[in-house]
Amino acid sequence: MSTAHGAGCGKVILLGEHSVVHGRPALAAGLSRGARAEVTASPDARSHARFVFDTAEVVVQAADDSDHPLGRAFAALLGTYSAPPPVHLTVRLELPAGAGLGASAAMGVSASSALDAYLGIPRTPLERATQTLAWERVFHGNPSGVDNTMAAVGGVALFTRGEPLEPVRVRKPLVLVIGHSGESSETKQMVGLVAQQLEREPERIGQLFDAIAALVRNARLALEAGDLRALGQLMDMNHGLLSALMLSTARLEDLCHAARDAGALGAKVTGAGGGGCMVALAADHGAAHTILAALQSLGAESFVTEVGA
Ligand code: MEV
Repeated sequence: MSTAHGAGCGKVILLGEHSVVHGRPALAAGLSRGARAEVTASPDARSHARFVFDTAEVVVQAADDSDHPLGRAFAALLGTYSAPPPVHLTVRLELPAGAGLGASAAMGVSASSALDAYLGIPRTPLERATQTLAWERVFHGNPSGVDNTMAAVGGVALFTRGEPLEPVRVRKPLVLVIGHSGESSETKQMVGLVAQQLEREPERIGQLFDAIAALVRNARLALEAGDLRALGQLMDMNHGLLSALMLSTARLEDLCHAARDAGALGAKVTGAGGGGCMVALAADHGAAHTILAALQSLGAESFVTEVGA
């Protein structure tokens, strides 16, 4: 067989990161940027992969004991197939890694869809989401599944761990501005930090998660009603609760303030926090470009994206 291709989306969490790990809902959207993969026959008896990032490349062999997580993740993904032939995988990432935009899930989903195309295996997006949890576990330890689900399914949806995905019908596409703090963070570590807080103070942190869940449910209603002002306020409130969980940084605070001062309807940390990206909601494309300029004037790599179209 010759060459097979696959793709996976990045994702942005509009509200509900972290509490989603502990059974509360999250509202998330697939991004048009993500990862693209290619599978060909291996020139030898081993499966290997090349991952192409913005400024670096990683070459690994698939092995459970690889000293690179990508080698272990690739082995975990191949382990979901029965007796796959040795393959060569190439993945090109279109997102910053370690930024809260679901880069690892996008890579896993793109690899799975290219492998399925290569092997002639049909799989629905939701089946792919389940399959790629094996990949995600290598990076995140205890992933809720929101990243790999959005990477496989796309669109805008309410995700609750262990429950059917609820696609959300967005009245108007959302115009978002995403700004990178320039600080990288590890999801596994940030999820661990929140788990420690929950263990120390189960009641208080549980209530905080419940408060985030209420914001998420209201945000879903706001999205369905096309009420962007309400959605923005709910995002701001969610940001406050994420800061209370020590997931923001001085740099992320600066970017959120700058976005709001430039007219954003709401702005918050997105993803694991502790660095990575923030997301701002804009009223329209014109407003988004003003917010973009404000973030760029602070030296933040930023872009405008539309979700829910
Ligand atoms: C990471 O993109 C989102 C977190 O909620 C972790 C997870 O859901 O697995 C921080």
